Amino acid sequence: MLSRRAFLSMAGAAALVQPVWGRRQNPTIDPVRLRRRLESLSTYGRPGGGTFASGVSRVAYSVADVTARAWMLEEMKSAGVAPRIDAAGNIYARLGGDANRPPILFGSHIDSVPGGGNFDGSLGTLAALEVLHAVQAAGITPRHPLEMVLWAHEESTAFGRGTAGSRIVAGDLKAGDLDQVWNGMRRGDAIRRIGGDPDRIEEAIRPAGSWHSYLELHIEQGGTLDRAQVPIGIVEGIVAIHRFDVVVEGMANHAGTTPMGERQDALVAASTLVLAVREMAAARQGRQVGTVGRIDVEPNSPNVVPGRVSLSVEFRDLSEDTLRELGDALRARAAAIARDTGTTMTIDLATTNPAALADAGVQDAIGSAADRAGLAVRRLPSGAGHDAQMIAVLCPMGMIFVPSAGGVSHSPRELTSWDDCARGANVLLGAVLELDRRDSV
Ligand code: GLV
Ligand code: MN
Ligand code: MN
Repeated sequence: MLSRRAFLSMAGAAALVQPVWGRRQNPTIDPVRLRRRLESLSTYGRPGGGTFASGVSRVAYSVADVTARAWMLEEMKSAGVAPRIDAAGNIYARLGGDANRPPILFGSHIDSVPGGGNFDGSLGTLAALEVLHAVQAAGITPRHPLEMVLWAHEESTAFGRGTAGSRIVAGDLKAGDLDQVWNGMRRGDAIRRIGGDPDRIEEAIRPAGSWHSYLELHIEQGGTLDRAQVPIGIVEGIVAIHRFDVVVEGMANHAGTTPMGERQDALVAASTLVLAVREMAAARQGRQVGTVGRIDVEPNSPNVVPGRVSLSVEFRDLSEDTLRELGDALRARAAAIARDTGTTMTIDLATTNPAALADAGVQDAIGSAADRAGLAVRRLPSGAGHDAQMIAVLCPMGMIFVPSAGGVSHSPRELTSWDDCARGANVLLGAVLELDRRDSV
């Protein structure tokens, strides 16, 4: 015989999956399930013997990424939606709505930088799944189809390029892009590894107007909200990024027998350029930043004067003009350093992310959702790049930020309180429902 407890839990489960037509419950995400899923996702790419606090290394196309994506597919199915993988490896799932109306899209990514945190991208992706869950649980029939997305390959570690899945969707795809090789892997084959189809890659490209609007919940990754003790950030715009691949050619030679005055040391030249990047970005008024985050030395042996160095340089700012000026300054400084060190330097502008303004109507929808939840907001720019900036060319876009403790991110120490995660997910839900009431944003 069924116990009273089992009966009640079955009744609860039924209420969760069956729409209560005509009676709209107050929709809310389930904070316990959100936390449980974030903790489960964190086990994919966790360092051996580590804990949640050890963060994740879930670089795009790695085993950790592939297995985490498979886990996500199962979670999506268990939430009652059918996932679909596009040719670029992005995962979509749609719920309800009038098929003649454009869907409202929301989501984020689950790949990470090496030694990354548990919240960057993962929170926005799992919160998107919560939105689909909550809408069904509350028995809401949306006017627009609601579509969640898990963007493939957001971080810039693999192939030195980021926002890669959403970039394809936005139509930024050049001949030869999929032939690039990284870690012995062709990019087309990497995309096949995550369930995409490089032979039909054009099918992932979507025309402008494909969606009603796009929303992304993300941790701030900076310290503004945490310092101000404000739980919700409304993003006004996302910085542009110009990223360069620099190759310094010197001459490899014996470290013991080559006199100091006769060296063409590629690493000395590269190091001078690293300092110049910092100087160039710091010397100007404004919020622009410059970073050398990757450097490879050849042959990388203690007893050899380095013969070749390749490195990345990136500049970020809301103003494309500032970035162009910094790029010009980089080329001029590189030429001077090469002359002084007897090396050559080649500089290629490898990728650019356009600055993207968040749509005023989407910002307003986020503001009303936060207001209804009684949460204070702060408007702020995003210094981090996001898939939202790619999708901004296809539909009105907006982003919700939640506080990052101490402003730390791209680190295992990245931390957002569970309460802030839940608040952000509920504001995402509220903003989706607010946008659903509007025919246009
Ligand atoms: C993404 O995390 C970026 O800002 O590089
Ligand atoms: Mn990131
Ligand atoms: Mn991210």
